[in-house]
Amino acid sequence: MKILVTGSGGREHGLAWSAAKSAEVERVYVTPGNAGTAIDDKMENVDIDVVDFDAQIEFAQRNDVALTIIGPEVPLVVGAADKFQAAGLTCLGPGKEAARLEGSKSFSKDFMKRHGIPTALYGSFENADLAIEFANSMSTPIVIKADGLAAGKGVVIAQTHSEAKSTILDMLSGNAFGEAGARVVIEEFLEGEEASFIVIADGKNFLPFATSQDHKAAFDGDKGPNTGGMGAYSPAPVVTPEVHKRIEDRVIKPTIAGMAEDGHPYIGFLYAGLMIDKDGNPKVIEFNCRFGDPETQPVMMRMKTDLVQLCLAATQGRLEGERIEFEDQVALTVVIASGGYPGDYAKGCTIQGLGEIEGGKVFHAGTKLEDGEIKTSGGRVLGVTALGQTVGEAQAQAYKLVRDLSFDGMYYRSDIGYRAVARENGDA
Ligand code: AMP
Ligand code: GLY
Repeated sequence: MKILVTGSGGREHGLAWSAAKSAEVERVYVTPGNAGTAIDDKMENVDIDVVDFDAQIEFAQRNDVALTIIGPEVPLVVGAADKFQAAGLTCLGPGKEAARLEGSKSFSKDFMKRHGIPTALYGSFENADLAIEFANSMSTPIVIKADGLAAGKGVVIAQTHSEAKSTILDMLSGNAFGEAGARVVIEEFLEGEEASFIVIADGKNFLPFATSQDHKAAFDGDKGPNTGGMGAYSPAPVVTPEVHKRIEDRVIKPTIAGMAEDGHPYIGFLYAGLMIDKDGNPKVIEFNCRFGDPETQPVMMRMKTDLVQLCLAATQGRLEGERIEFEDQVALTVVIASGGYPGDYAKGCTIQGLGEIEGGKVFHAGTKLEDGEIKTSGGRVLGVTALGQTVGEAQAQAYKLVRDLSFDGMYYRSDIGYRAVARENGDA
């Protein structure tokens, strides 16, 4: 069987790696892929842009691709899954309407309100005066979000009312995020610990993947600007069995049922970014219409179930009665980034040390194969992933592998998993 994974990040390398493990899979094509998907067993990059649907569809048809998995949110939000399906191809991912759960924060907040799904109190505005008036009525900190896609960077947590005002003006004037900021969502600040809860849905039924937690901030101690994610681990200790059940009952079930009821059944990966308060009650921070990055890497590292069979079952509405199984071990991923990320950074630096990795897996993100050398080509470059009996062990092993790798300006956080390690040591 031949599979196509679209995208070029760590998530796509993780999904392609998992798909390639399936005994029935002979080839995993990746459009356009990265150096990792260029060199791994059974994988092959195809140089087509992730939003060039006509070319991807033509390629999939010509090569008898049995399943396409759309990796990133950008193609999903503009309707990639609908286009593949209309061309008669089997494709996992929500259609354009369902992908609005991520593509429009105001749509997603209104949806949650309508279906009684717990989330932060909010208002949604196109008019700056009304937005500022609303913000002034709230206590600080105040969370301000651009409505549309902004690569994880469209969220500002304003500490004062005057910062809230200038952020609102900046977003609504189109300076900060262009079209994506033509509408803003203003919401209350939630306290607690974050967790990522990702499921696969077939329109009616869903199965949860192992839980995970990521570190979005650029610097140690969860300080500094927000990034796409500097590291992640699975499982998330904050999601106890009781919290797990609450998330399924209060968030996932009503979301899948609500989308079906509203006429756009959700088929694909659904990622709920959650805040768990001190009493173990979940609230939704955001929905994503795809797998997490870097959460994919530790979750796929632990998954024992055949990803391809699972995706096919979802596209055929057959998830009821299926199971997803995971290793009991903990998996932890340290993201190695280009110095300066999430701001400006250099590209084209040669990466040393990738040949001798043992005792873990290095997933690639912003890398490129050039003249036989692997070079950096993006902000997040590698996701170094290891398993361990404890978070401490997985963390030690991942950092051991990290120390064998190098390139000019290489940057990584040195504390991925610190909360879970503290819990394990009885310090939290
Ligand atoms: P988002 O892009 O919506 O996931 O937001 C990015 C990050 O901002 C989240 O992972 C949280 O750390 C933080 N954040 C977003 N909304 C809230 C909120 N209402 N309360 C507290 N933190 C939030
Ligand atoms: N790691 C955060 C995300 O995938 O949205």
